[in-house]
Amino acid sequence: MKDVYILGVETSCDETSISIVKNGFVDVYTCVATQMDTHAEFGGVVPEIASRMHTESITLVLEDVLKNSNVSWDMIDAIAVTYAPGLMGCLLIGLEFAKTLSLVHNKPLIKVHHIAGHIYANNLVEKIEFPSLALVVSGGHTELVLMKDDYDFDVLGTTLDDAVGECFDKVARVLGLKYPGGPNVERCALQGKPIYDLPIPMNDDSLNFSYSGLKSFIINLVHNENQRGVEINSCDVAKSFQDVAIEQLVRKTKMAIEKYGINRMVVAGGVSASQYLRDELTKMCKEKNVHLSIPPLKYCTDNATMIAAAAYPLFLKKEFSDYSINAKSHEYFFDKKD
Ligand code: KG4
Ligand code: ZN
Repeated sequence: MKDVYILGVETSCDETSISIVKNGFVDVYTCVATQMDTHAEFGGVVPEIASRMHTESITLVLEDVLKNSNVSWDMIDAIAVTYAPGLMGCLLIGLEFAKTLSLVHNKPLIKVHHIAGHIYANNLVEKIEFPSLALVVSGGHTELVLMKDDYDFDVLGTTLDDAVGECFDKVARVLGLKYPGGPNVERCALQGKPIYDLPIPMNDDSLNFSYSGLKSFIINLVHNENQRGVEINSCDVAKSFQDVAIEQLVRKTKMAIEKYGINRMVVAGGVSASQYLRDELTKMCKEKNVHLSIPPLKYCTDNATMIAAAAYPLFLKKEFSDYSINAKSHEYFFDKKD
């Protein structure tokens, strides 16, 4: 079969990225223009600024890809783009850009859910073999998923309230740590001790998660100490929080492995950038004799490589989109299963 080249576009948050991926697993060339430093000054992503910066950089990012990838338009088979979820203005810039490229160069358009991208980032390391377990952990998702085949996924457990990444971001904010929250909580935790006795969430035999109780506990702890004039050591709070937050992920993953007799698993989503999570999962999987795949850091944070990789199985199934598709700021990736 002839090689398939897919050009991916990702603009759902604060990274403008375009990539060309061959056959769903070879990263031919990727460009990521990050806006992180700009948003850090405001303590979080400012949607209006993010949209404007995408508009400014997207053509430059494409130029860089076309110049350095050695791939010409006649070699490209399809255009893939993130349509959901994310910041509406940001998604629309990528989507309209991708539609225009598709129309002008007469290439099929493939819409990709951002979380599918995070999952298929694993194919850039080694091909996902089915069945496999996926732990999906991001700013909006916390799920254990049984992957039976490409895009044939059963949710085994999910968060009953907040997502783990969102919880890291809120805790970072109350501790006065800078945006982006997750990595800064982790950095701070490295210098802290787990001296706080925090409630263990979801200490049951379900595969579900909960993060709102833990989040509220930390917020109350910090406010109460502040009111009493007690100076808290942020890093001790960060370490105590991180231990409990990550332990919940590892404990439930281990339960799913035992319950479903799993021998392969992948991790997906921004929280998989956590070194502490990577280390704890590696230890647990070694103990359970489970093959673990976690993408390298450059594929854990937002990028278009994962979007082009996730489009490949859809390309093979000819699941193309027409130009009436719209961006969606909120869309849950998995079908709920009772
Ligand atoms: O997957 P992603 O891009 O989120 C969404 O698409 O929603 O991941 C972003 C999330 C943020 O909540 C961020 O705080 C978290 O991933 N994150 C981390 C770390 N790095 C990123 N959380 C904990 N530890 C980290 N090192
Ligand atoms: Zn993401």
